[in-house]
Amino acid sequence: MCRFIHILLFLLSVCQLSITLSASLSGLRVFRRTLLQNGNSSSRCPLDFDALRRLAPASRRPNVDARSECQYIRQSIRLVQSEYLLRNNSFLPPPETAESCWDSYQALVNEYGRNFDIRRRCGFETPWIASGCMNITTRSDFESFVPATALENVAAACNQSLLNGSPCASCTTALSGIQASYLPGPSIGNVSDCTAYPFIYAGAFSNHFGPTDEGTAKCLFNLDFTSSNSNSKKKKIVICVVVVVCGVVLLLGFAVFWFFRRKKARLLKQKWNHVRNSTNPSSGLDAISESTTLIRFTFDEIKAATKNFSRENIIGKGGYGNVYKGVLPDGSEVALKRFKNCSAAGDASFTHEVEVIASVRHVNLVALRGYCTATTPLEGHQRIIVCDLMKNGSVHDHLFGLVERKLSWPVRQKIALGTARGLAYLHYGAQPAIIHRDIKASNILLDEKFEPKVADFGLAKFTPEGMTHLSTRVAGTMGYVAPEYALYGQLTERSDVYSFGVVLLELLSGKKALLAVNDGQPNLVTDWAWALVRKGRATDVVEEGMLDLGPLEVVEKYVLVAVLCSHPQLYARPTMDQVVRMLDMDAPVPTIPDRPISLIANIDDIERSVSSSGSGQLSTPAGYQPYTFEQEDHQHKDDEIYSGR
Ligand SMILES: *[C@@H]1O[C@H](CO)[C@@H](O)[C@H](O)[C@H]1NC(C)=O
Ligand SMILES: *[C@@H]1O[C@H](CO)[C@@H](O)[C@H](O)[C@H]1NC(C)=O
Ligand SMILES: *[C@@H]1O[C@H](CO)[C@@H](O)[C@H](O)[C@H]1NC(C)=O
Ligand SMILES: *[C@@H]1O[C@H](CO)[C@@H](O)[C@H](O)[C@H]1NC(C)=O
Ligand SMILES: *[C@@H]1O[C@H](CO)[C@@H](O)[C@H](O)[C@H]1NC(C)=O
Repeated sequence: MCRFIHILLFLLSVCQLSITLSASLSGLRVFRRTLLQNGNSSSRCPLDFDALRRLAPASRRPNVDARSECQYIRQSIRLVQSEYLLRNNSFLPPPETAESCWDSYQALVNEYGRNFDIRRRCGFETPWIASGCMNITTRSDFESFVPATALENVAAACNQSLLNGSPCASCTTALSGIQASYLPGPSIGNVSDCTAYPFIYAGAFSNHFGPTDEGTAKCLFNLDFTSSNSNSKKKKIVICVVVVVCGVVLLLGFAVFWFFRRKKARLLKQKWNHVRNSTNPSSGLDAISESTTLIRFTFDEIKAATKNFSRENIIGKGGYGNVYKGVLPDGSEVALKRFKNCSAAGDASFTHEVEVIASVRHVNLVALRGYCTATTPLEGHQRIIVCDLMKNGSVHDHLFGLVERKLSWPVRQKIALGTARGLAYLHYGAQPAIIHRDIKASNILLDEKFEPKVADFGLAKFTPEGMTHLSTRVAGTMGYVAPEYALYGQLTERSDVYSFGVVLLELLSGKKALLAVNDGQPNLVTDWAWALVRKGRATDVVEEGMLDLGPLEVVEKYVLVAVLCSHPQLYARPTMDQVVRMLDMDAPVPTIPDRPISLIANIDDIERSVSSSGSGQLSTPAGYQPYTFEQEDHQHKDDEIYSGR
């Protein structure tokens, strides 16, 4: 008995020893790993990447496709920087810690089983994690650039849970103007540049939940840590509810049917149709989720708003269909765009993209209110989107339409600048970035104060094939489409810059994009304006007798910007950010590289410019001052512009 106890004790102590040993061994390993990761303490990274580990444990890590991976990686750094800002009043870690910060982040990425070099894969340079916008490093630096009133507005909109669509939309709307107004740049690198700073700041100080809150992460950094787990549960609940509701509705329907069978068979048929319309589409589940700002209308509501699509309510016609004016039950006036020839098949992607479009909000973009998809027995499948109605029509109406009073110079200036801001936001502020593809005078709408609002962004895809004047690959309108896009279908945000340049020329000159067609060759306003600029007569471009014309230097600057934007070779065009800076601030207009007088005659030049810029490496011909091109992640433009997450 005694011996047995001894043996037991011996075994126990062996056990204990081995446990201690292995514990100290693993402790040693952890110690070594920290040493390896962080280098020595003087250059140790102060950013806390564990914040990401806590938000996204491996089991809940969102599924990211390869295309948006770099975007996702960059947004995660911004979130971590925001958390650091909150702790230490500093946006950026000290420069000497850059290497070790990348190493810590790399270690995290490796833990998720994604073994690739993030810096190499995403084109980030080592110092960028520790450099940012306009040498702003601390909270007080930032607050010295951005006025307190602007920050109060942001806090008023953002100091709440941002998990849902509508608080999030008002917060991002409040943030959207800050960069353009107060942080014109320059930025170093693209990890945390001037467009990111307001969001990093708001995550730290304008929202009391802080950047690591799920709602804040989702809204400000576009990082959705909520979806993978809870969503499936939520979806199940939604499905259950929908099934139960459908059941009840069906039962009621049968009861009603039974009662009124003889008397009102016809009326019943209509009711059935209504039931089908409002419960039918399979995409409904996605649409109901989250975004509370976007209203899903029933077809009956749309019919009521437009007096059954009455002719008098038509306010516009386009390749995609008609635009109607309508009044909602709450008395607000809206514009309704009804798409032609659609089939139910594309509804899921339509709904998705409408949601993306609705989430993009800026003072110079038309806001989307809601949409409707339905199938009716008489009229077939229907897709309608509902936007705010703009009281003053479009720039086209004012320049070439029936409007009597000509726009004065200050109003034109305001239109030019606002439009540029709206587009810069689409290209650099919206996530995912959006290329408009169909900018033209009739797509720039004017509200009651003549503030311009860009309409129809994100909708080019829904133009039925063959309705455009160009090849089916290209969406756009003759005279406004950039040559490389028209000829080769090469789409970048600089095609929008071209179209903007054409609109600006129309606005300045009062002449249409397409002046005339001579011997089968179009005569473009851009060629005409360039010819004048080349002769040193830039101000002759401006329409005669314009009211309240400003100082000639300013007028000339606008003409030069317009000519530069509508340059046939895409490397010569500025970005929309640069355009805003040139029009709004004192940024000078660079010398305009020479160009062929008629672009059609010189297809070779365009071809060269297309092929030389294919890799994203923009060539600079001799004698031309290069811009500091901002880095963009717009590689896969054509059909993927919406797949941000
Ligand atoms: C830490 O690294 C710096 C340079 O990176 C070096 O100057 C310093 O001597 C190192 N300190 C220790 C304790 O190794
Ligand atoms: C906070 O920033 C200061 C420099 O601004 C630095 O010396 C300090 O170590 C930082 N603290 C933490 C916890 O990172
Ligand atoms: C950042 O800039 C680099 C280099 O210009 C570029 O390769 C990379 O795609 C950019 N990354 C993102 C996420 O914009
Ligand atoms: C930022 O700082 C560097 C060096 O400290 C200086 O050369 C540069 O001009 C500064 N840039 C701005 C925009 O203040
Ligand atoms: C945000 O709201 C909380 C309480 O809800 C308050 O304590 C905090 O001071 C507010 N922050 C800002 C920046 O207004």
